[in-house]
Amino acid sequence: MKESKKTVSREIGLEIGHIVGKGLFQLDHLHYGLWKKGLEPSILNLHIAQDEYCKFIISHIPAEVKSILDVGCGAGAFSKRLVDLGYKVDCVCPTEYQNKIVEKLLGETSEIFKCKFEDIQTSKKYDMIQFCESFQYIDLDRVLDIAASLLNPGGYMLICDFFKKCSDACAIKGGQKLDKFLDLLGKSSFKIIEDIDITAETAPNIDLVDRTTKEVIVPLAGAVERFFQSQHPIVLKLIKWKYRKKIAKVEKKYLTDEKSGKNFTQYKTYRLFVCRKVK
Ligand SMILES: C[S@@+](CC[C@H](N)C(=O)[O-])C[C@H]1O[C@@H](n2cnc3c(N)ncnc32)[C@H](O)[C@@H]1O
Repeated sequence: MKESKKTVSREIGLEIGHIVGKGLFQLDHLHYGLWKKGLEPSILNLHIAQDEYCKFIISHIPAEVKSILDVGCGAGAFSKRLVDLGYKVDCVCPTEYQNKIVEKLLGETSEIFKCKFEDIQTSKKYDMIQFCESFQYIDLDRVLDIAASLLNPGGYMLICDFFKKCSDACAIKGGQKLDKFLDLLGKSSFKIIEDIDITAETAPNIDLVDRTTKEVIVPLAGAVERFFQSQHPIVLKLIKWKYRKKIAKVEKKYLTDEKSGKNFTQYKTYRLFVCRKVK
């Protein structure tokens, strides 16, 4: 099936994020970092904050878990870490670019389902299904039933992701609606056994991205624009006219002051949920 433009641009965004993050800042992951008190929110510290995020999740994996399905495994660094800790890990990811990296990293040790979670076809069962910042991308009306069908009796679902607290418009996109999620969870075969709010420790990522956009990406784009203006002024004028709506949209999305940790805290809630399949 043809991917929607929104999905393709999101996946390309993650690809660019991984290339730049890995190439320039040794970042292995595509998730937010967990900024512990005292850790200065700077791009050079992001790998430390991402490592803290992984350690935080690992410390909440129930003791009896041996097999894990990592949904939306990104570039696979977290899956690899779990494998190295002795877990049997399989992955699901619909993105070709990421899957090539994951295959190289995990080799024969893991099965990689190269599809959306919603389309997974397998008779395998797992002790735990984890969604590390991937839950927001899955169809909320289907995710709980599919997760339950892939779990052993008494298995766990670990979700670490942000949710929308309310339906008010917010410049920071993403996240399932928390009240809808909790409502569906209440009617499902899962019971929450842990619910931890890490909004304050993850919000500094938003300020970091905003600062990087304004201090690095915008000046770079300005320099590229000046170069084209000096070499090909008419072509540049035509491009700017043709894409004027898109340019205005991007400017509105990235250049307002609404993308801040403060607004993230107001509109979103970043949570770790560990849920157990009880029925
Ligand atoms: C923000 S990244 C997080 C990656 C990784 N879990 C990490 O913590 O670094 C979101 C991931 O979800 C994947 N994804 C998006 N839609 C998905 C879907 N419907 N089913 C499974 N994975 C999906 C993306 O390809 C990407 O790997």
